[in-house]
Amino acid sequence: MRIDKLLSDMGLATRSEARAACKSGQVLVDGAPARDSSSHVDPERQSIVFRGREISYRRYTYVMLNKPEGYVSATEDSKLPVVTELLDGELRKMELFPVGRLDRDTTGLMILTNNGPLAHRVLSPKHHVPKVYRFTAAEPMAEGVEEKFRDGVTLADGYECKSAQIVLDEGRMGGLITLTEGKYHQIKRMVASTHNRVVTLERISFGDIELDTALARGEYRLLTAEEIASLEKHM
Ligand code: URA
Repeated sequence: MRIDKLLSDMGLATRSEARAACKSGQVLVDGAPARDSSSHVDPERQSIVFRGREISYRRYTYVMLNKPEGYVSATEDSKLPVVTELLDGELRKMELFPVGRLDRDTTGLMILTNNGPLAHRVLSPKHHVPKVYRFTAAEPMAEGVEEKFRDGVTLADGYECKSAQIVLDEGRMGGLITLTEGKYHQIKRMVASTHNRVVTLERISFGDIELDTALARGEYRLLTAEEIASLEKHM
């Protein structure tokens, strides 16, 4: 695989940045500078150091995005902006897609990848991956909502939700909800079943992965090796 493709596939550099880095000796292959970014390397077998850091090649790419309001969790839409439009440069070309959906007005942690089998598995209800959401409500939440959510809310269409945890803030105008499933508008409908309404909703964790507070809305970064390992344990 070409060095420039490897670095750009990994989101480490654009092709032209890779070319410049090679020319200036910032890319070492098995300890020796690789001056030509079009030369081929075997990332599974050779040691590749980019700007002083050993890189470990991965076939798939994983991105953490802090989703802003107003974006659809999709790769295309005929009318509305989609989350993949927030990625720039080489990542745009990598056919990443969102792992699961957040509503257009929901913000927070969204993972994007091009690893289809993994996305499918972590979303499967069999895997019970917990997702934590911070919400605010229009009215104070009703007494007894903790037990109601724990025992499984029945939605207006008759769907019986799995047990969920709700921890309310003082004043009961919001708090944290943990779900292990992801039905359409699930939290909004669960809160509606208590004759209340969600005003804001933000996902703050997905399994062991927490929203990086250094990311402003609309910003993203690659997942760390540890975060990827926590997803891959579901494979
Ligand atoms: N529940 C909702 O109602 N909306 C989301 O975006 C996520 C969970």
